Amino acid sequence: MQIQQFLTARKSRVEKLLAELLSAQNSSSILQDAMTYAVMNGGKRLRPILAYASAQAVGVDEAHADIAACAVELIHTYSLIHDDLPAMDDDVLRRGVATCHIKFDEATAILAGDALHSYAFELLAASTQIKASNEIRLQMLVILAKAIGATGMVAGQSLDLQASSKNTNAESLATLHSLKTGALITASVQLGALSSGGIEQKQFERLSVYARAIGHAFQVQDDILDIESDTETLGKQQGKDKELGKVTYPVLLGLDGAKQKAQALYEEANAALEDFGQDAQALREIALYVVQRKH
Ligand code: IPE
Ligand code: IPE
Ligand code: MG
Ligand code: MG
Ligand code: MG
Repeated sequence: MQIQQFLTARKSRVEKLLAELLSAQNSSSILQDAMTYAVMNGGKRLRPILAYASAQAVGVDEAHADIAACAVELIHTYSLIHDDLPAMDDDVLRRGVATCHIKFDEATAILAGDALHSYAFELLAASTQIKASNEIRLQMLVILAKAIGATGMVAGQSLDLQASSKNTNAESLATLHSLKTGALITASVQLGALSSGGIEQKQFERLSVYARAIGHAFQVQDDILDIESDTETLGKQQGKDKELGKVTYPVLLGLDGAKQKAQALYEEANAALEDFGQDAQALREIALYVVQRKH
């Protein structure tokens, strides 16, 4: 399979839908401009791509996974807007352009993030495009809420702000990474698989193991790229982790140690898909992409 083709096609698909969904809100306000600016300004769209690939792995029609794909990207974009705020990482560049609070203002950026967050839940709760039963839909809502709240992404962001090399070891960093980045990635895989109905518990568990491993690997690679890449390629400021004194795997284990960690997580992800057939090939190749990506 040509993974590049798969990535490009799903990226275009979700971007078209996101543009439609954002304009459907039909309020030509500064708030809507800020939401659209942040969502439509590029990004790899990895989380929606994972939702589609996971749907494919369990034989779900791609169209049924559209809303799940859009919801996780709306949440991800909200998290980036807030992550870039002066009170958090204080970044001026995101996806190759000015961060939302620089382009607009801080208050608008905060509210745009809030509104994207709500819109994701509204879509999951109300869209008729989701073919799953109400029971499964409720399960999807709970999965997403837990993944991004005080036991998920937001907890990870809080730990990230408190972490120092004195209070952090490889084990606690694994927890931090798994929460701040892994949890939403895991939810993306789970929501894609659930979006047209229930699946076998065993399949769900294997997909979740896969997703936790690549979600963790994704943040390890993010930390490596912060050192090895450059600002233009990344579309965000290179070297920011060092500037902010962030604790990362390269800080704790060295660059080689971090790369070994990413490779081990990649192998763990692949092993979790052992019982899946050819339909899971996109997921396997995405795992490789996650640890080999250059931006
Ligand atoms: C960046 O995520 C933030 C992390 C969770 C590491 P991505 O690298 O997926 O950012 P975009 O969406 O491609 O811009
Ligand atoms: C961001 O992690 C994680 C979330 C947005 C939840 P980082 O702070 O490492 O992401 P970048 O490097 O700014 O993209
Ligand atoms: Mg951060
Ligand atoms: Mg950041
Ligand atoms: Mg980073």
